[in-house]
Amino acid sequence: MGKSYPTVSEDYQKSIEKAKRKLRALIAEKQCAPLMLRLAWHSAGTFDVNSKTGGPFGTIRHQAELAHGANNGLDIAVRLLEPLKEQFPEISYADFYQLAGVVAVEVTGGPEIPFHPGREDKPEPPQEGRLPDATKGCDHLRDVFIKQMGLTDQDIVALSGGHTLGRCHKERSGFEGAWTANPLVFDNSYFKELLSGEKEGLLQLPSDKALLSDPVFRPLVEKYAADEDAFFADYAEAHLKLSELGFADA
Ligand code: HEM
Repeated sequence: MGKSYPTVSEDYQKSIEKAKRKLRALIAEKQCAPLMLRLAWHSAGTFDVNSKTGGPFGTIRHQAELAHGANNGLDIAVRLLEPLKEQFPEISYADFYQLAGVVAVEVTGGPEIPFHPGREDKPEPPQEGRLPDATKGCDHLRDVFIKQMGLTDQDIVALSGGHTLGRCHKERSGFEGAWTANPLVFDNSYFKELLSGEKEGLLQLPSDKALLSDPVFRPLVEKYAADEDAFFADYAEAHLKLSELGFADA
C-alpha cells in the first residue's frame, strides 16, 4: 500500500519540531512515557480497514471514546497533554497524540520512528469494542490486528513489545504489575521476560503468553529476545504503520 503524504506548510513543520521538544520535556518531567504510548496506540488501534473508520484522528479526546472500557485511565493522558496542546492550536490532535507516542518511545531509549504530519481531526469516535481483549489468545489478536487493522503477524509480535514500557493498574484494567524490571526503559526485556516464564513481581497477560504458543509468533519472540536491533527495526516499522492507519493511503 503506497503512502502519499499531504504537504504541510513550513510553519506547520516548525510547530511540529517545537512541539516535539516540548513533549520530550513533559514526558521526562511527568515520567509518563508509558501512558503516552498507550494513548497513541489506543487512538490508532481502532482503525477498521474495511469500513475505513476509527484510527489515529484525535477522537480519543472525546468523552464518548474515553469512556470505552479499554481506555480506562487515558483521560489522564489527555489531561496531561492539554496545556501543551493549547500552545499549538495549529497542530491537529491527531498529529499531536501520534507525535507524543513517537517521542515516548524515543526518550525512553527506543528506536526513532519517522513522523509524517498532516492528519486531520475527525468528528466521530469509532464504536466501542475494537481494541484487543487481554484475556484472549492468538485468534483474537489476528482478528484485531490483521483482519480489522490490516497489519501482519510480525507487527503483532513487534508491537506487543510496547509492553516493555509501563504497567497494569488494577483500577484501570483489573490487572496489576509491570512486564519488566525497568518500565521506563524501552528495550527488548519484554521478550526476554516472556521467554523466561512467570516471575515474582512481574506480570504477563494471557494475550502476552499467547505469543509463546503460536508457531509463527514464537520464533519472532525468540528473535527479538536475542537481537535487540532486530526488534527495534521491526518495532519502528510496525509503529510507523500503526500511527498512519487510514492516513495518506494512496
Ligand atoms: C496485543 C494486544 C494488547 C493487549 C491485550 C494489551 C493490553 C493492555 C493492558 C490490559 C494494559 C494495562 C492497562 C492499565 O491497567 O493501565 C496495557 C498497558 C499498556 N499497553 Fe497494551 N495491550 C496490547 C498491545 C499493546 C500495544 C500494541 C502497545 C504499544 C505499541 C501497548 C502499549 C501499552 C503500554 C505502554 C501500557 C502501559 C501503560 C501504563 O503504564 O500506564 N499495548 N495493555
